[in-house]
Amino acid sequence: MIVLGVESSCDETGLALYDTNAGLLSHALYSQVAMHEQYGGVVPELASRDHIRRAIPLLEQVLHEAALTRDRIDAIAYTQGPGLAGALLVGASVACGLGLALDKPVLGIHHLEGHLLSPLLASDPPAFPFIALLVSGGHTQLMRVDGVGRYTLLGETLDDAAGEAFDKSAKLLGLGYPGGPAISRMAEFGDPLAYKLPRPMLHSKDFNFSFSGLKTAVLTVVKNHPGNVCEQDKANIARGFVDAMVDVLVAKSLSALKHTGLNRLVVAGGVGANRQLRAALDAAGLKKRFRVYYPELEFCTDNGAMIAFAGGLRLAQDPTLAVRNYAFNVRPRWPLAELGAPRA
Ligand code: KG4
Ligand code: ZN
Repeated sequence: MIVLGVESSCDETGLALYDTNAGLLSHALYSQVAMHEQYGGVVPELASRDHIRRAIPLLEQVLHEAALTRDRIDAIAYTQGPGLAGALLVGASVACGLGLALDKPVLGIHHLEGHLLSPLLASDPPAFPFIALLVSGGHTQLMRVDGVGRYTLLGETLDDAAGEAFDKSAKLLGLGYPGGPAISRMAEFGDPLAYKLPRPMLHSKDFNFSFSGLKTAVLTVVKNHPGNVCEQDKANIARGFVDAMVDVLVAKSLSALKHTGLNRLVVAGGVGANRQLRAALDAAGLKKRFRVYYPELEFCTDNGAMIAFAGGLRLAQDPTLAVRNYAFNVRPRWPLAELGAPRA
């Protein structure tokens, strides 16, 4: 079965064709980062309008790369939520319009389920069950994953998401948007002893996180800094921030593994691309004998492949989901725990 995936929940338009037998056929992405950069963050209305411009050309591109015509698509999966309402509506209407025109079933997918399952797209995928550390711009969660649709939330952030803390701290340091990759690069040149920033909730006996205090600590350092923050100081603060963030994410992941007795950790979401986090988790894995799985770098951040893939898995397990109902609604707020397991 060939599934078209459509992702438009935030500032990336992603389309992909996934063959449930042959694997990923093609995928294409347009990132709106350059457009939003001048505003220091995503402007929802501009995001929606740009998704409209990009969706169909990207569809043509993935069809061309896979050497397929539209009629070869068997089903269409689109991100139904969570995300920006207007942006989601564009993907949903494109998917449902195409479904109606082609007389093919359409299926709404939870964006975080896409991220959660994205490491299964890799050549050496993890087996179930595993612990998933989901760290994106909007979410920070630790989940136990027993199978497709069988997700148990162990803990989550009580305030800012990890990616949000990266972006806000980078902004305070004048590093532009999105700040994650920039602050990570800057941290490489920083002195780890210069600033010891707080590690919020490191010793709380649960799997929850809190990052707004860490961001405020960056703000306080910047505010109290005499004169302009020079490049070396920026690097030192970035280093202090990244070290604190990584310490907390690693410690909580370790306790989730210990608590469940599992030895596979999957890292998904944009912050999963962070090299310091990867290095620290790999080192902990060697020491404590667990294995860490990451999606391919290009599938860490938002993309259409993970949506096509999740759609394919869902349809394979429950063919009754393949309905030709083209009246769509999006779910900007949609707790992952509300997702049911597919019927056996
Ligand atoms: O998963 P994603 O593409 O979108 C959401 O669903 O939110 O994640 C985007 C987030 C942004 O906050 C971005 O700054 C962060 O992931 N990010 C990184 C890195 N690459 C992306 N954070 C730290 N280090 C990186 N290398
Ligand atoms: Zn995402």
